[in-house]
Amino acid sequence: MWDYTKKVKDFFLHPKNIGEVENPDGVGDVGSIVCGDALRLSLKVDKETNKITDAKFQTFGCASAIASSSALTELIKGKTVDEALKVTNQDIADFLGGLPKEKMHCSVMGREALEAAISNYKGIPIVVEEEGKVVCKCFNVTEEKIRKVAVENHLTTVEEITDFTKAGGGCGECLPDIEELLQDIWSLKTPEKPVAPKKLTNLQKIALIQEVIEKEIRPGLQADGGDIELIDIDGNRVVIALRGMCTGCVMSGVTINGIQEKLRELVSEEIVIEAQ
Ligand code: FES
Repeated sequence: MWDYTKKVKDFFLHPKNIGEVENPDGVGDVGSIVCGDALRLSLKVDKETNKITDAKFQTFGCASAIASSSALTELIKGKTVDEALKVTNQDIADFLGGLPKEKMHCSVMGREALEAAISNYKGIPIVVEEEGKVVCKCFNVTEEKIRKVAVENHLTTVEEITDFTKAGGGCGECLPDIEELLQDIWSLKTPEKPVAPKKLTNLQKIALIQEVIEKEIRPGLQADGGDIELIDIDGNRVVIALRGMCTGCVMSGVTINGIQEKLRELVSEEIVIEAQ
């Protein structure tokens, strides 16, 4: 028996916003009944203000899936679509007072449905993971999804990947591939070098920023079909533009934050990224 919080039980037994919005402006369908979980999120959006005026869900899943979907609708109602995109799967879990770690994949499914519904509203074709290489055949989980969820949630073990995506939770054949993927993700991000000197001259700082972008940031973006262009460096202000698949991606805000975090970690705490 899972150890659910009072709020999870409440949102499961008395879920809010079940059903489908009439004449929705955006719909996101994720998961599949074959894999055990599916979620449809429908949104009504005020076109003038871009505010989500109504959100409803239909789900096929467990108590956590129902509670997470319901929590998501409560979290996003009244927000603009861009504000709603900042809601993470961890926010959904936090709103519920936490989820059992084995059930975190329900919050991830909520976040995915949100991205899909907002992309649908914005008319952005979803270049979803289905096009990527499937790593876990039991649950149809792609490499792209594992990479994204691992980075966003700082996951470092195969067990955590299973908790958050279900990958590896079936026959287990994909476990070595997930392990290899994790090594690849985190070896790219482990800052062995370059290491920031204590006090940098302007020239040293510019050189280090360029080096970090080339060695630590660009390869990860290119692996997902994106790229980065460094436009200007003015003191601690670094102006960049996302290119390739990153252009117009609904996750670009997350990507830019990640780039800023990496430069703060490896160059200076005071770096501020400005994206064009
Ligand atoms: S292929 Fe991943 S658990 Fe079976």
